[in-house]
Amino acid sequence: VARRRQIYEGKAKILYEGPEPGTLIQYFKDDATAFNAQKRGTISGKGVINNRISEHIFTSLSAIGVPTHFIRRLNMREQLIRQVEIIPIEVVIRNVAAGSLSKRLGIEEGTQLPRTIIEYYYKDDALGDPMIADEHIACFGWATQDEMNDIADMAIRVNDFLSGMFAAIGIRLIDFKLEFGRVWDGDYARVILADEISPDGCRLWDIKTNQKLDKDRFRQDLGGVEEAYQEVARRLGLLQPDE
Ligand code: C5P
Repeated sequence: VARRRQIYEGKAKILYEGPEPGTLIQYFKDDATAFNAQKRGTISGKGVINNRISEHIFTSLSAIGVPTHFIRRLNMREQLIRQVEIIPIEVVIRNVAAGSLSKRLGIEEGTQLPRTIIEYYYKDDALGDPMIADEHIACFGWATQDEMNDIADMAIRVNDFLSGMFAAIGIRLIDFKLEFGRVWDGDYARVILADEISPDGCRLWDIKTNQKLDKDRFRQDLGGVEEAYQEVARRLGLLQPDE
């Protein structure tokens, strides 16, 4: 088997050169990190589950007209994606107070927000992904105003779709993170959804019990991490009943 050229290794994924120009292979690892990689561990089977969950979500989003980098799943841990120029901004969408919002502003976890909040963070591990405003994005040229409008529109559409999708399987979408990238068509760039959407980057609570079904189980040492990810996949109909 020819070894593929590795393009990038992140905390939870590896990107390899793809079979065609303009494509990459995204490999999902079992590694997990939290608190800007100060806490490290592995969640056995996470890569396989996240590959499936992210495939399902990106395929569904594509079907409602949200452009994404996803092309197709190749195997248990890999998917073929379009190569993009990553926009160095993490977009966080919040429906319910939790995590850093609760901590920073003293709002009790689980408080329903009167309106959805979109936040931006500068993607820089060395700086610990600091929160930024539109002003910083414009000032430092990380994205154009048109691109930011597209990103905010897509973030709201993704939130509306995912909130409904999860509600239908008894899960409350508390908050989640998105990343976007540029694809060039001559001189013209278009923004598409990139990265992954999985319990690694979402807060998902059982509607009835408030049980956490996401990476907070790892962050907070709650146990049952693998089982929680599997439960999300099972409710989405992505696992056999005995898996
Ligand atoms: O930590 P915080 O409350 O700001 O996280 C908000 C949401 O964004 C959570 O669902 C978390 O999993 C996700 N997130 C992420 N990657 C980061 C920061 C946050 O996936 N670097």
